[in-house]
Amino acid sequence: MSKKAAAPIGIFDSGIGGLTVAKAVKNLMPMEQIIYFGDTAHLPYGDKSTAAIQAYSVKIAHLLLQEKCKLILIACNSASAAAYELVKAYVGSQAKVLNVIDPVVDYIRETYGDQRVGLIGTKQTVHSGVYQRKIAELNEGITFSALATPLLVPMIEEGFYKSDISQTIIGNYLNKPELKHLKALILGCTHYPLIKHEIEELYKGKAEVIDSSEIVAKATKAYLEFNNLLHQETPKKDRFLVSDYTMSFEHATQIFFGQEVELEKFPLWE
Ligand code: DGL
Repeated sequence: MSKKAAAPIGIFDSGIGGLTVAKAVKNLMPMEQIIYFGDTAHLPYGDKSTAAIQAYSVKIAHLLLQEKCKLILIACNSASAAAYELVKAYVGSQAKVLNVIDPVVDYIRETYGDQRVGLIGTKQTVHSGVYQRKIAELNEGITFSALATPLLVPMIEEGFYKSDISQTIIGNYLNKPELKHLKALILGCTHYPLIKHEIEELYKGKAEVIDSSEIVAKATKAYLEFNNLLHQETPKKDRFLVSDYTMSFEHATQIFFGQEVELEKFPLWE
């Protein structure tokens, strides 16, 4: 195994939600070491300007390069929409950079030509128009519509899912014209895998609800496999860094990663 294959995978998000992606990566590739960075000091990214998200993302990418990551996965739709091109240019040939949008667009191309596809996400993700542009560029006759659903992140973080409240809020959003008569709905936010089943129930099997975390984990594995970069021995311990620490972030790891993890406060902005 090469020295590069032994290097960790860097994953970053605005906070704890990207742990849904880290979990999917870990499930698919248990031998990989993960270094996760949650920018909890600047959470949420969904309401920030593009310039602010770009500045945060480049600084985090710099840290992950210092940690010698072989691949940097932007596990946040808002940061993928605002900062992917910039982070890729910054990182250059030092590491591969993946985002959570392109693998999903590839999946849509393979599966939903000439059909109606919808998206829900933060204001930043939806208003950036990135999904819309990338899907239009496919030229596959796909009809696309998107709705910003900003209540969903705080709702999930406050533990309101699988509940009457979440049913009402999600139901209200799904009744909007943008999300009617879809063949597939993209969950364009790393928090949303937690409400995937509720959304599926509301669509009653009429639309596929696309959880990007699994698709992105598969794309990550495919890249590492193709480039002989898979780690094949027992990995070093995963690390979970956050730019601000509170007990509630620690508890939230249970929700998003499926188990509590030890968060390390990392003073990136001090
Ligand atoms: N992780 C973000 C995303 O996927 C949602 C939370 C935030 O707004 O920072 O867009």
